[in-house]
Amino acid sequence: MNWINFPKDFIWGTATASYQIEGAYNEDGKGLSIWDDFSHKKGKIIDGTNGDIACDHYHRYIEDINLMSNLGYDAYRFSIAWTRIFPDGKGHINQKGVDYYNRLIDFLLEKKIKPFVTIFHWDLPLKLQEEGGFLNSDISNYYSDYVSFLIKTFGDRVENWITFNEPFIFAILGHLTGEHAPGMKSIKAFFKVTHNLLLSHGKGVIAARSVNNKIKIGITNNHSPIVHIKEILGGDLNKNDIKAKNFANAIFNTMYLDPIFNGKYPKETNFYVKFFNKKNNIDDDLKIINQKIDFFGLNHYSRTVIANSINPILKIKVISPVGKTWAKELTEMKWEIVPESFYDILKFIWDNYCKKNNTPIYVTENGAAFNDTVNNGNINDEKRIDYLKKYIKSMKKAMNDGVDVKGYFVWTFLDNFEWAHGKTKRFGLVYTDYETQKRIIKQSGYWYSKLCTEHGFIE
Ligand code: FCB
Repeated sequence: MNWINFPKDFIWGTATASYQIEGAYNEDGKGLSIWDDFSHKKGKIIDGTNGDIACDHYHRYIEDINLMSNLGYDAYRFSIAWTRIFPDGKGHINQKGVDYYNRLIDFLLEKKIKPFVTIFHWDLPLKLQEEGGFLNSDISNYYSDYVSFLIKTFGDRVENWITFNEPFIFAILGHLTGEHAPGMKSIKAFFKVTHNLLLSHGKGVIAARSVNNKIKIGITNNHSPIVHIKEILGGDLNKNDIKAKNFANAIFNTMYLDPIFNGKYPKETNFYVKFFNKKNNIDDDLKIINQKIDFFGLNHYSRTVIANSINPILKIKVISPVGKTWAKELTEMKWEIVPESFYDILKFIWDNYCKKNNTPIYVTENGAAFNDTVNNGNINDEKRIDYLKKYIKSMKKAMNDGVDVKGYFVWTFLDNFEWAHGKTKRFGLVYTDYETQKRIIKQSGYWYSKLCTEHGFIE
């Protein structure tokens, strides 16, 4: 038995996102977002559900935050629905939406839970999508106006701000594969949106600091180590394989890191970003994107296995582990459980990006979906506890090797609307009974509570 110990001031929290939990999609003056629209289109959500009600957190936040407080979790990462504040994305301000987040923030502070606010977690105002959404460079100005308003309104109480959640996933699933809102399928859109997200991030950081220079601001990216299938099967990589691997690393990782930390795009994708954003002066934009950030948010779940492909632009394909003899154990998302990858990606980001300016890292999401069942009112989710133990241990190893991780957030507090998977994937530490909206704390929720209060756990 081994005690995995953490510093006393290490922050333990959970994370959620507005569209996934709030519900009340058209109440109190809220405007529609691209997810309100997309989830109602036929065939887009696997079980035909939507986020109209979700966990009804908009009405039940008091009960939910009380639960969080009783469990002793230190921090809570949530996102603001742009459409509650600006129903049309810009212009008219909806006071009732502002009031809601004031109440939520004040209640968290009353309960001594540290709020970490994500400014954009994918639920773009539909009105802005009608103007091209993130394909239109003007979005960076609308976005920074939205940021200024949030910092002016809530920055006196919220210290930690996250400009974007996973720009890569929003760009690729929303604009290239069409699995997420707004459901586009275009390579041009993918590169345009990637650039405009990063540009918006840069302008957002500048806007936030000009309003209040005491706040801390960063971005949350998802990253994973890239493994070429041949490395798993035991073969040597030839020139083309290495090229494919480097290209995949650019698409999944460095295209979203180099601009922020070093003011440039990786050489593998630089041409495409320029080619698909002809109206932009990319070099000038990169100067804006390259703002110093106060922390880096990392979301991580698994590794990414790729192979070469004849696709003229993307040149790679992602290999699913489903049904493969080489695959490690899978979660319900069919994501491989590979704790060592967590160490590898933390080291990669620290050594190549964060170390030079001592930018601390927060793990803003990590966790697993399993098929939880209620037995006599109890949810014995041993697999989730095992996953968390292994991943948190791997993070600790990275910390022992010099990576400055200041906090960790489990995805997620309570089971919620998992985007295109609807309500079929349960990631929560707390179970949501969608019929009654009853919350049941899972064993993992209790286990995590102990970790928060004891600053460590037995392996
Ligand atoms: C991340 C998202 C989060 C949730 C988890 C499972 O990509 O940021 O909203 O869907 O995956």
